[in-house]
Amino acid sequence: MIEYIDEAPSLEEYKEMRRAVNFMILSDRIASNALNNAFHITTVRDNGRAIGMIRVLSDGSYANFITDVMVIPEYQHKGIGTQMMKRTVDYMYSTLEKGETIVLYLMSAIGRENFYKQFGFRERPNEVWGAGMSQWITK
Ligand SMILES: CC(C)(COP(=O)(O)OP(=O)(O)OC[C@H]1O[C@@H](n2cnc3c(N)ncnc32)[C@H](O)[C@@H]1OP(=O)(O)O)[C@@H](O)C(=O)NCCC(=O)NCCS
Repeated sequence: MIEYIDEAPSLEEYKEMRRAVNFMILSDRIASNALNNAFHITTVRDNGRAIGMIRVLSDGSYANFITDVMVIPEYQHKGIGTQMMKRTVDYMYSTLEKGETIVLYLMSAIGRENFYKQFGFRERPNEVWGAGMSQWITK
């Protein structure tokens, strides 16, 4: 049974899901802070097993960054990623009062842009906005 639970996965589950989708390996300290300090996390479970997740990082109000959108390979292409995104955008919408506006950011993986467009995201750069920019820093 597939369930969407608005709670963080365990550290081990998080590391295992990241491994399964070939995301960068994180130190335990970095990974557990990432879970503990997120604004909103949904974990998808199949009979208890963590098979997908999504996180929102936020100032608690205006600026919100969606990251760690992942569904492990054996569960991909079943609509789970779509549900996670829909639920997350709906949740962020539910934080608004009438007349208010907030922003949702995310960085698409190469080739996933169309997946995100269906939830209202626009590619950058465009005629109005410059490129999103990022860097990794390592010590
Ligand atoms: C991106 C990701 C989260 C999408 O998760 P998902 O559960 O496969 O997403 P969905 O099943 O909702 O949609 C994926 C595709 O399957 C299709 N699909 C949805 N339900 C389907 C079904 N029942 N049968 C067949 N195909 C289906 C969708 O139309 C979609 O097609 P598209 O690739 O042309 O957009 C997943 O591929 C993933 O974890 N990838 C690796 C990590 C990654 O790159 N994350 C994104 C970082 S930005």
